[in-house]
Amino acid sequence: MSHSGDLSRPPVMNKIAVAGGTGLVGRMVVDEVRRAGGTPVVIARSVGVDLVTGDGLAAALDGVDAVIDVSNVETMGAKRSIAFFEAATGHLLTAGAAAGVRHHVALSIVGCDRVDLPYYLGKRRQEELVAAGPLPWTVLRATQFHEFAGQVIDRSPRPLALGLRMRTQPIAAREVAVELVAAAVDRPAGLLPDLAGPRPEAMDAMVRRVLRARGSRRLVVPVPMVGRAGRQTKAGGLLPGAGATLGRETFDAWLARA
Ligand SMILES: NC(=O)c1ccc[n+]([C@@H]2O[C@H](COP(=O)([O-])OP(=O)(O)OC[C@H]3O[C@@H](n4cnc5c(N)ncnc54)[C@H](OP(=O)(O)O)[C@@H]3O)[C@@H](O)[C@H]2O)c1
Repeated sequence: MSHSGDLSRPPVMNKIAVAGGTGLVGRMVVDEVRRAGGTPVVIARSVGVDLVTGDGLAAALDGVDAVIDVSNVETMGAKRSIAFFEAATGHLLTAGAAAGVRHHVALSIVGCDRVDLPYYLGKRRQEELVAAGPLPWTVLRATQFHEFAGQVIDRSPRPLALGLRMRTQPIAAREVAVELVAAAVDRPAGLLPDLAGPRPEAMDAMVRRVLRARGSRRLVVPVPMVGRAGRQTKAGGLLPGAGATLGRETFDAWLARA
């Protein structure tokens, strides 16, 4: 039987661009694309492509079948977050449509639609643009990575570490990368079920445990989540919704191998 025109099969995806392919989860997505037999194309300023200005993007997307967007801006502020995700997503969608990209996959965050953290306003804008954009799309919302505790430490002012009082259900970034690549080679699916780890954890405890594992003497400053976002978080706003896909690796198991 010939498979041409067989709608039950997803199209073959060979060349997959990874926007933010040098970042924490981005490097793992690049590995997974290779493991799945595809050819990854890294998009990042360090390889000469700027998503905010669009410089170098047309050339980078030449011949690309699907884009996985895991780019990021390091900010807690709404203005910078919205500006980054609006510009980066806008350029990726416009250049993607011009290059004939068949599938745009974006990584978002569980609860970004429920919890009014300033950074999340940028993620909401990203999701809106993708859903209203010119390309067939998939959005995967994941919870905080197990690695997020380390990112919080590395971005805290020395000799402190911010112990965010926040309940989450973290997941290994590697498992997120696997799901993103599976989504990219499958048919565009719109908003996927939430992706989370196997069980809830307290972020401040995760920070303390990563510090202990690193042999670090940084002082953990408890940082309660205050105001409306605090109330939304306490109400479980960052926990996965019904029907979520759950990863297998616990924070304990991840820490033991990290
Ligand atoms: N961390 C978490 O726990 C978590 C949980 C759920 C979802 N997410 C989402 O996952 C995504 C990736 O997060 P991450 O922590 O893995 O990111 P990250 O480590 O901060 O990496 C950011 C990536 O974006 C690239 N980048 C930044 N500005 C750019 C620009 N102007 N043009 C081109 N590339 C640019 C960086 O490369 P250059 O610096 O070389 O440009 C880098 O490859 C984010 O959208 C985040 O919202 C994160």
